[in-house]
Amino acid sequence: MSGYDKVKSQQKSAEEHYQNTVARIQQIQSQFNDSPGSGKLKGKVAVVTGVGSLKGIGRAAAILFAREGATHLYLIDYDGTNLPNLKSTIESKYPQVKVTTIQADAANEAAISGVCELALKEAGRLDVFFANAGLASMDPLHDTTVETFMNIMRVNALSCFLAVKHASTAMMKTNSSRGKDKSGGSIILTASTAGIRSGAGTVDYSAAKAAVNSIAKTSAYQLQKTDIRVNTICPGLIETGMTGATFDYARKRGTAGKIGQLNPLGRYGVAEEIANAALFLASDDSSYVNGQNIAVDGGLSASHPVVPGRWA
Ligand SMILES: NC(=O)c1ccc[n+]([C@@H]2O[C@H](COP(=O)([O-])OP(=O)(O)OC[C@H]3O[C@@H](n4cnc5c(N)ncnc54)[C@H](O)[C@@H]3O)[C@@H](O)[C@H]2O)c1
Repeated sequence: MSGYDKVKSQQKSAEEHYQNTVARIQQIQSQFNDSPGSGKLKGKVAVVTGVGSLKGIGRAAAILFAREGATHLYLIDYDGTNLPNLKSTIESKYPQVKVTTIQADAANEAAISGVCELALKEAGRLDVFFANAGLASMDPLHDTTVETFMNIMRVNALSCFLAVKHASTAMMKTNSSRGKDKSGGSIILTASTAGIRSGAGTVDYSAAKAAVNSIAKTSAYQLQKTDIRVNTICPGLIETGMTGATFDYARKRGTAGKIGQLNPLGRYGVAEEIANAALFLASDDSSYVNGQNIAVDGGLSASHPVVPGRWA
């Protein structure tokens, strides 16, 4: 049997593979929910944007940062609906963590400079800024208006520029009474695999995410010798509020087993898996990781399209 045929014969049925995916995701989520945490962010003060969606990456990251011992979290979304729920969820599970929720636009300069100043005033320091708020668009090239293009750039890219500009200013401030004797911090931006290659988003969204990837590289360069690191996470297909309609539609049609088949793991991801990457970048575990665009995508951006059972 050729290597090709051997791989093909070892393929699981689509249904069996989907059942494995569901079980794997349940395992990942229960590990996330049940872990006691290990103090990776002990003493740190963090801002997270785009936390309002119940299944979103920002909410998962905020809960994880609390589990890992952050002292004060500043949590922003322009939609205030789920902010009280997030605050009470964190405060009931991790009562030692202070939570401030703010309904604001992550692409508004006054809001972003304001939250950084507030963190310095109230908590005495700023250590982590996870600029995660983002918005996808749907229109094909010839239907994309100037307004849509500019709004997608504003929400996705300008928000990250403002985060780097104002968070880095705050992170340079020292305060020995709060245990911060030197400049330092970690700025994490949510980009996308769409910002690395084509095929994962619209022209405007992909351009905005490519800009985010560039912002991390250039600002890491400009922030040299400050011990402030700037990196992006490039998620692949993650089941969140942003992609929920696609998942619901596939499940209704009975084609859920096809979701995420284009990457080598052959499955979609969940918000907790991106939050884990954000924790790595936020913590000192990544102390020498700087200016990088880190794909968390099941191997999607590393691979040519995967055709089940085929190598070529
Ligand atoms: N879900 C995916 O497959 C995927 C893939 C790649 C990248 N991303 C990126 O991940 C990030 C998080 O998205 P998600 O998947 O959790 O989606 P989501 O829609 O579940 O959450 C995004 C949150 O951002 C908030 N938001 C949007 N614009 C905002 C603004 N201007 N100011 C403040 N808050 C704002 C929304 O209200 C929402 O709560 C986004 O930057 C998105 O582009 C997602």
